[in-house]
Amino acid sequence: MIEKKMLFTPGPVMTDQRVKVAALLSDICHRRAVFEKLYSEIRNNLLKLFHGPKDEYSTVVITGSGTASNETVLSSVVDSNKKVLLISNGEFGNRLKDIICCYGSGLNLVEYKWAEYPDLSRIENELKNDKDISLISMVYHETSTGMINPVHQVGKLARDYNKMYHIDSISAIGGEDVDVKRDNIDFCTGVANKAVGGQTGVSFICVRRATLKQIQNVPKRNIYLNLQNHIKAAEEHNQTPNTPSVVMFLTLNEALKVYFEEGQEKVIRRYRENAAIIRKGFRELNLDLLLSDQSLMSNTVTSAFLPPGIDINDFIDKVENAGYVLYPGKGPLLKRNLFQVANMGQILPEDCKIFIRVLEGVFTGKLRRNLRCH
Ligand SMILES: Cc1ncc(COP(=O)(O)O)c(C=O)c1O
Repeated sequence: MIEKKMLFTPGPVMTDQRVKVAALLSDICHRRAVFEKLYSEIRNNLLKLFHGPKDEYSTVVITGSGTASNETVLSSVVDSNKKVLLISNGEFGNRLKDIICCYGSGLNLVEYKWAEYPDLSRIENELKNDKDISLISMVYHETSTGMINPVHQVGKLARDYNKMYHIDSISAIGGEDVDVKRDNIDFCTGVANKAVGGQTGVSFICVRRATLKQIQNVPKRNIYLNLQNHIKAAEEHNQTPNTPSVVMFLTLNEALKVYFEEGQEKVIRRYRENAAIIRKGFRELNLDLLLSDQSLMSNTVTSAFLPPGIDINDFIDKVENAGYVLYPGKGPLLKRNLFQVANMGQILPEDCKIFIRVLEGVFTGKLRRNLRCH
């Protein structure tokens, strides 16, 4: 038996009972109408999630984690004689760089320190000086720090300089105000198992229809992750080019229903309230936050430093023994004893209050076990 813990992690997340039960209906054939109806429903709900009008945007679901969707975009939309302007200020920006380099596209990297806010003039200079850039790529919510990047402002630059624009909204979609049309985004990626409240295994892309013409002659560099193949199958028949994970499509569909029944605004408000409780609790426990500017903090991830002398792995284990799963920081931030707490999925403000009391117990040595059964 696996002991149930509360996942205060940025994916996987706590899921609604209905999402778990949906997995039991998976004995259906993906090449029949029953699947096409399911996929059509998911695709329409994804349009709502991204705020993409149906006549201007299309959506596809990829069987694979968030990286699969980022790789689908970055491998399919840039000609080999063109370049990507990548803005990176953390672990997940760096991962986009790895994909771009792996497929051999030209790369103009505008790199910042982790948790440093991108400065628009550097980005604009690159656009002015290099005519070969065809795509701008950036992470919406840099999960490794909890920072929200200037998606709207860079979207304006993409419009002014007539470039395609890719946003990795893997940890933002469902938890932040993602709006592909307002922010001029051509390709926006997301995943089921974060702020949408679904399970691991599928990711998705919202694509601007007008941009599809621009990329139709880009030579194929792969098969399974070719965006044009996915769009064609989805648009013609609500189908997928290869066998999809039917079970994960079912759970994604249910997660989207649960999400929209609560309502997008209400979910985001709940996430904001959760984060505010956690941040207030951290301040009361004298924990320093990584980000000082409240306006740059996401609604779902809080990064804080452990006091010197506390071993991070020991701390994470103790908190887990008390029933809560957290993440240690990544890269250079781990060396500074950073840990991360997320409040995505089925987590209520009351859960966050209890979590803070448990954390207090861990710090004072009075450990409370606080397991919640699902
Ligand atoms: C912003 C961002 N991009 C990409 C990824 C990679 O997603 P996955 O691990 O699902 O492949 C993550 C994972 O946490 C992420 O937070």
